[in-house]
Order: sequence, then C-alpha cells, then structure tokens
Amino acid sequence: MPNQSPIILSTWSFGAKANQAGWDALSNDGTALDAVEIAARVTELDPDNTSVGYGGYPNEHGIVQLDAAIIDGKTGKMGAVAALEGFRSAISIARKVMEEEPHIFVVGDGAREFAMKHGFKEENTLTAQSAAWYADQLKKKEQSPGGHDTIGVLSQDAQGDMAVACATSGMSMKWNGRVGDSPLIGAGLYLDGKIGGATGTGTGERAIEVCGAFAIVEFMRNGLSPQKACEKLITRMVERNQPAIDFQFAYIALNADGATGAASVKEGFQYAVCRAGQNEIRSSAVYGIDFM
Ligand code: GLY
Repeated sequence: MPNQSPIILSTWSFGAKANQAGWDALSNDGTALDAVEIAARVTELDPDNTSVGYGGYPNEHGIVQLDAAIIDGKTGKMGAVAALEGFRSAISIARKVMEEEPHIFVVGDGAREFAMKHGFKEENTLTAQSAAWYADQLKKKEQSPGGHDTIGVLSQDAQGDMAVACATSGMSMKWNGRVGDSPLIGAGLYLDGKIGGATGTGTGERAIEVCGAFAIVEFMRNGLSPQKACEKLITRMVERNQPAIDFQFAYIALNADGATGAASVKEGFQYAVCRAGQNEIRSSAVYGIDFM
C-alpha cells in the first residue's frame, strides 16, 4: 500500500514527545520500524519518566529492570528482552535480538550479555530521584508494587508498512525478576502487518490473562474497527475481573488502513496521535466501571 499517509501514535501524553522523534524519522524516509524504536527510546531515556527506562523506579532490591519488545510488520519478525539490568534503554536491544538472533525473547543475565556483545553501553540506571524515592520506600512499614505506565508506539510509514514497540521499567518495588505484559508478544503488543497492531499500558498481569494485544488484532482480522476491537477487549478484561476493578489498563490500536482506536478500564488515560506532523492528545473511551 504505497503512498499511505504516515502516522505514529503512542500511549500517554508523554507519547507526544516520542511521536515527534518518530515523526522526524518518518519524514526523513525512515521506516515505521525505525520510527517506533526511536520514539520508544526517547521516553526510555527521559530521566523524569519514573515508569519507563532510565528514570524508572526500581524493584524491591533497588535495581531498575527494563522490559521491551518490538515487531516489524513488514517481515513479521519480533524481538524482546526482559528483566534487563545495566542499560538505560531496552528497545534497541530488543530490535537487535530480532535482527541478529534466531531467538525472539532473551531475559535477565542473558539479555545483559547479549547487549554487551553487541556494543551497547552499560551505565548506571538509578537516577538520583529514583534512589531518593527508593530510600523513602524503605522507611515505610510495608512496600507494595505500583506505577506501571508504559510507552507503547504504533506506526505506519508511507510504504504502508507497520511496526509496534513497547517498553517499560515495570512496576516499582516489583518482585525481583517480575515481568509484566510489555515485552510479552500477544499481551503488551501484537501486530500483523496486513491487519494492524495494538499495544497497551497498565497493570500487566491483567493484560497477560487475556492475551490482550493479540485478541485486539484478531478482532480487527474479523472485521472490527480498531476502536471497537479495543472496546471489546477492555470489556472482556473488566468482565473477567468483576467485581474487583481495582486496576487500570488501556490499549491503543491501528489498522492497515490507518484508522486508530483506544479504550481504557478507567478514566484518565490519554494517548498522542501524530499525522502530518501534528500531534494531538486524545482521551480514550472508558469501558470499565461506568460501562458495566
Ligand atoms: N504494563 C507494564 C507492566 O505491568 O509491567
């Protein structure tokens, strides 16, 4: 589908900055794959974002562990890393797994070794702000996991090729080695280059339970618009968890015709859509408590 109007969309209002970097790549003949990687990396490297990449709050041991995954709709290839320590951005390492390995998913020490072998630079990953936050947490009688915003990015380039990326530092104070939905193909992201893609943010466990991103793509394959597909999945998630809707989750979706959609369990989810270089922040449809 050549001469498609390029588009990039990302979770949360901080996605606008990510979109801008991805848009610059799209405008300079970059592919959708380049755009989603560049966009996700902008958020990962933002030290003020406390739930993604460098700047992400640490786990129970005070260590930042990153998760990320990427899918190239043109080739159908995918790559992911999880529980990665010592690197400020994980998305480019996930892309390297996709491009260099017969494997799809590499975790923990193996992911670290892989990154070093491919020349990624090991760095301190705990910002002064995160270290102070962690010290405060330790003063509390009890600590519980929380905070799980994720950068999820979908794009389609002028050639009609699509890609998706998803990256997070996961929940703060999470169990050492806990992995959420973000690097899990089918849960935090999925894409079929001929149909469309989806990516999400929120409490990862709830997305894993319903293979949410995969389900949204299958709903689109069966004829639903991206909007209706997101709504149907969020409704399923809410029904599955009745009556304890004590979590937030949101998905965004893009189909091969360039149509977008978004839905969330609760109010408060925003996402950024960039077409023709213009970023627009939108609020999602809510299909949680108010809907049931
Ligand atoms: N959605 C990010 C996480 O739960 O880790």
